[in-house]
Amino acid sequence: MSLIYVLNGPNLNLLGQRQPEIYGGTTLSDVEDLCRDAAGPHKIRFLQSNWEGQIIDWIHEARQDGAAIVINPAALTHTSVAVLDALNAFDGPVIEIHISQVHKREAFRHHSYVSMRADGVIAGLGVRGYAAAVRHVVSLID
Ligand code: DQA
Repeated sequence: MSLIYVLNGPNLNLLGQRQPEIYGGTTLSDVEDLCRDAAGPHKIRFLQSNWEGQIIDWIHEARQDGAAIVINPAALTHTSVAVLDALNAFDGPVIEIHISQVHKREAFRHHSYVSMRADGVIAGLGVRGYAAAVRHVVSLID
């Protein structure tokens, strides 16, 4: 049984309330349930922070006990070399996920620092993308 980190960046605590026309009506707590179902026997450490440094600390923690990272870095996707550097220090699989189809949106969302490290990227599948990402890392771990 392995531990999978599912990390969520800024403003995702407002999922279900924030711009539902883009991100849908599902809450982050519902997303956590989806991830736990998709993980089968594996454990999920499901976390959200509005603070870049906290996300980085959790990536460092995953270096000790995490088999894989699924990350929705939210706006940090497009700005954070520091999150990229932290992920580059993690040896296991990394899947980047976005609820919305970022490439159909503003040009500043088309570039992702995290994609330079991610082994896979999911965008535009809504919150179901989280379950797909978790199922994928489970298939890699098993
Ligand atoms: C997001 C897309 C980002 O551009 C945005 O800043 C978010 C959420 C998504 O899940 O679609 O906060 O990562």
